Amino acid sequence: MKKDFLSLSDWSLEDLEAIFSLTRDLKKKQQQGVPHHLLKGKTLAMIFEKSSTRTRVSFEVGMFQLGGHALFLHSGNTQMGRGEPIRDSAKVMARYCDGMMIRTFAHSIVEEFAAHSSVPIINGLTDLNHPCQLMADLFTVSEHRPNYRDLCYCWIGDGNNMANSWINAASVFGFELRVATPEGYEPDTGVVDRARQAGARILLTDDPRTAAAGADILNTDVWASMGQEEEQLIRAKDFTGFQINKELLALAAKDALVMHCLPAHRDEEITNEVMEGPQSIIFDEAENRLHVQKAIMATLMAE
Ligand code: CP
Ligand code: NVA
Repeated sequence: MKKDFLSLSDWSLEDLEAIFSLTRDLKKKQQQGVPHHLLKGKTLAMIFEKSSTRTRVSFEVGMFQLGGHALFLHSGNTQMGRGEPIRDSAKVMARYCDGMMIRTFAHSIVEEFAAHSSVPIINGLTDLNHPCQLMADLFTVSEHRPNYRDLCYCWIGDGNNMANSWINAASVFGFELRVATPEGYEPDTGVVDRARQAGARILLTDDPRTAAAGADILNTDVWASMGQEEEQLIRAKDFTGFQINKELLALAAKDALVMHCLPAHRDEEITNEVMEGPQSIIFDEAENRLHVQKAIMATLMAE
């Protein structure tokens, strides 16, 4: 039966760790110039309803390195953009392609695609979550800290798709997670409740200092996500005090690592100094999108 990659919470720890181990293997092969054409002759359709740099480039390059082909589709230039039903688009595209990656707004859109497509669907970001980014992020931590499941992670900022994804990850991987958001910007209640029911250790607070104190990993994201651009000014005001800067970093563990999925607004949610500082693993995260997604695609799409 085909499997989709819509949310980390749909996957077991064992399966996600198997993806990490394939990632390590594929990353080594790519760095050594060893061919690894696990998806020779296969095609991935990439449907974007929002902008992207990392996701588009890493999936397209990843398919090429795996011996396959990736097709970039902006939904506005397809019949979907003119109202063709999602279920029809899913059924038709599944007859041409071996997998589809979708970046869109409502999470229900990727779910509907998955329900009607006979080939695997990969979530390339929805308003609810961003599981491929989370896999790259955790893989990156594991490269720097092999005991990555025993660390204390904190999220400082908006309770957005990335925060929700960290909560799902805390529930699958079992690490401690503290989430600091301003009042009114908390993560999705359904995601939090499900994670807690599954035994996740999650602290929700409106105090960034409480979240950062002694933490091993500090993580943030933009204060206004794609689709919220008109709220930028009000959010900048509401998020005062939630910037990751050297004062906040000083409260964390001495060897704490700093993360951001990018794109960043430098000197807004994170200072330029911290982003470029020795504790930042931000650009490693960006690189690992490529390696982790190759492993995800190979897991879902190889014979
Ligand atoms: N982090 C991330 O998904 O980046 P893009 O929006 O550039 O794809
Ligand atoms: N929260 C951000 C993540 C971008 C990768 C957004 O949805 O725009």
